[in-house]
Amino acid sequence: MQQNKLLELAKEYAVKYLNDLPGKRAFPGEEALKNLQDLSIPLPRSSKDPGEVLKVLNTIGSDNTVASNGARYFGFVFGGTLPAALAANWLAAAWDQNAVFKISSPISAQLEKVAGSWLLNLLQLPAKSAVGFVTGTTMANFCGVLAARHAIYQRKGWNAKLQGINGAPPIRIIVGEEIHASMLRALMFAGFGSDSLIRVPTDKQGRIIAQKMPPMDDATLVCLQAGNVNTGAIDPVKDICTTARAREQGPWVHVDGAFGLWARVSQAKAALAEGCDLADSWAIDLHKWLNVPYDSGLIICRDPTLLQEALSVSAAYLPDSVEPDPYFYTPEMSRRARGIETWAALYSLGQKGVIELVERCCDYARLFATNLGKAGFQILNDVTLNQVLVSFGDAALTNRIIKKIQEDGTCWCGGTVWQGKTAVRISVSSWMTTADDIEKCSAVIIQIANQEISSKKLNTTA
Ligand SMILES: Cc1ncc(COP(=O)(O)O)c(C=O)c1O
Repeated sequence: MQQNKLLELAKEYAVKYLNDLPGKRAFPGEEALKNLQDLSIPLPRSSKDPGEVLKVLNTIGSDNTVASNGARYFGFVFGGTLPAALAANWLAAAWDQNAVFKISSPISAQLEKVAGSWLLNLLQLPAKSAVGFVTGTTMANFCGVLAARHAIYQRKGWNAKLQGINGAPPIRIIVGEEIHASMLRALMFAGFGSDSLIRVPTDKQGRIIAQKMPPMDDATLVCLQAGNVNTGAIDPVKDICTTARAREQGPWVHVDGAFGLWARVSQAKAALAEGCDLADSWAIDLHKWLNVPYDSGLIICRDPTLLQEALSVSAAYLPDSVEPDPYFYTPEMSRRARGIETWAALYSLGQKGVIELVERCCDYARLFATNLGKAGFQILNDVTLNQVLVSFGDAALTNRIIKKIQEDGTCWCGGTVWQGKTAVRISVSSWMTTADDIEKCSAVIIQIANQEISSKKLNTTA
């Protein structure tokens, strides 16, 4: 099939998929899942017509997707894809740019630069910070830890690039009890084992208790969190940073702000993330709340030179007049030009649109909590952001209800255990979700829960 026709076919399949999305199950049904086996064949000896390839993808693939690009997917903290970001992604795929250098893609470098500065402005972070477009928060956390490690070693006169990390000066690493697995992985990748971490107690929402912070010095890395994956709660970054900054050479503070850092774009929510601008490095996802295609996140570092040095082979400084290349601030060399979609998402939303997106998701999370609370179910968290935790009783009952919600297919929510209590975790992160979706999904969840509770009562009395 000719390229033009092939792309028309891809468009036809994609448009149909998106049109069907509102009526689609949130998770594939049994029948569709069985068809996945049809893909388990040996690599054909001869070539295939690309149209045929696309047809197989569409017939088996489309029905076996999770409808996380739809309005009723509330699992983990997933976002969907904004129309402008999706369309830009198609064009970017046709461009097939390598984002490593300005010389390998002037357009990608420029869009990353512009989108990066828009984002620093929206998030109210230091305007001169370095911005690296990485795969997501896990990689951004990793880059933040590497920058911190480099800065601390430098203070102590240790050059890890030449000397390695064996025998390096010790670094004290302070984290909250509720640290996300992603941050733990980042620390582990950088050589800091989980047993070596100093864990600070957290409150009922999962926030670090600032008064319990141990002493911090210039050989300390503090990993804070903006947006607990269960409750959405944000560590008291201002308190901790103010104490840390009171010292001449304080610790390095890194903020894992995968989704919670977005609170800073809204006047109504910014107080929750107050003081985050005082940190040294930040990780944030774009594929979550900004609703751009996977995979997309940012490492932001107050001191561009430190991030660049941490990630480069050469320890040499570059003259100030030389504008940095994109690869200065990412661990990869060749990579896709993910800044294109971010630029498109921001340009299409505008400042107002980004604020509305964040505030709308928070309002809908509250609506979910109100509906489920009114129906008599226990909301386990203060719903200040976009996360809601609901308990339906004991663990076995709540797990049965989670399973039934998932089988029903109207919406998808996962389970979690929050401070010893099994709960349904609802995350409202999609641009597509409407108040009607929340009403409809609340009703379905309430009906399923009541049914399970009644049948439990019948079974106990029988
Ligand atoms: C607080 C926090 N940090 C890190 C991550 C991991 O982000 P990613 O999957 O983009 O690497 C998540 C994902 O939900 C998160 O909630």
